[in-house]
Amino acid sequence: MTMIGPSLMCADMGNLKRDVQELDQAGVDFFHIDIMDGSFVPNFTMGPDMVNVIRAATDKPLDIHLMIMRPEEHINLFADAGADMISVHIESTIHLQRVLQTIKSKGIKAGVALNPSTPIESIEYVMDVIDYVTLMTVNPGFAGQKFIPTMYNKIKKLHQLIEKESYNILIQVDGNIGYETIPKVLENGAKMLVCGTSSLFKSKGSLHDAVIHLRQFIEGTAKVKTGD
Ligand code: DX5
Ligand code: ZN
Repeated sequence: MTMIGPSLMCADMGNLKRDVQELDQAGVDFFHIDIMDGSFVPNFTMGPDMVNVIRAATDKPLDIHLMIMRPEEHINLFADAGADMISVHIESTIHLQRVLQTIKSKGIKAGVALNPSTPIESIEYVMDVIDYVTLMTVNPGFAGQKFIPTMYNKIKKLHQLIEKESYNILIQVDGNIGYETIPKVLENGAKMLVCGTSSLFKSKGSLHDAVIHLRQFIEGTAKVKTGD
């Protein structure tokens, strides 16, 4: 089943609890929380205190996307703040396998995030320890960017590798995931959609209606694919 994960960096920071509760009640599957340090990416977002606010507002899984240098130094902070899933960028740490083991040792789902130019082959030797892969489909750091077209094939290639080796790994896509890009990312094997300004946080209408409309669109796309 395709999972919808609002990207909370796009939410109304002055009404974060309200937005989270509205999205939760509308039926989203998880919450995607981008953590940025102004060093790994040229932007800042929120920290563990905001994660605590979100944790208190929902029981849905919190997916922490660490876009920070040396993520291994901060796993405890986000684990204690209530993370259910933590992804780290392969480009941000020297000892990827070790930090993934640390995340798993805390009973938290472990993910690896790949920048657009980072090849799939780079995670070959950690596929046995991860639960999901976050494929950046824009350059990380800012909402509102354009999908990078070569990422369609990257999704397909990762999906083929997962299928071939029978790994139990989900593909998450992050960046300009909206009505124009969803059909093809689903067709190529994506399962977890990070939904920001391209799909949920648009200027008009309620968040509730945006979720319902997006879910209907996704289900309609699936029907077309299976020919129902
Ligand atoms: C990129 C961000 C964005 C955001 C989604 O670093 O992670 O992808 O969550 O927002 P849109 O839909 O505007 O790309
Ligand atoms: Zn993200």
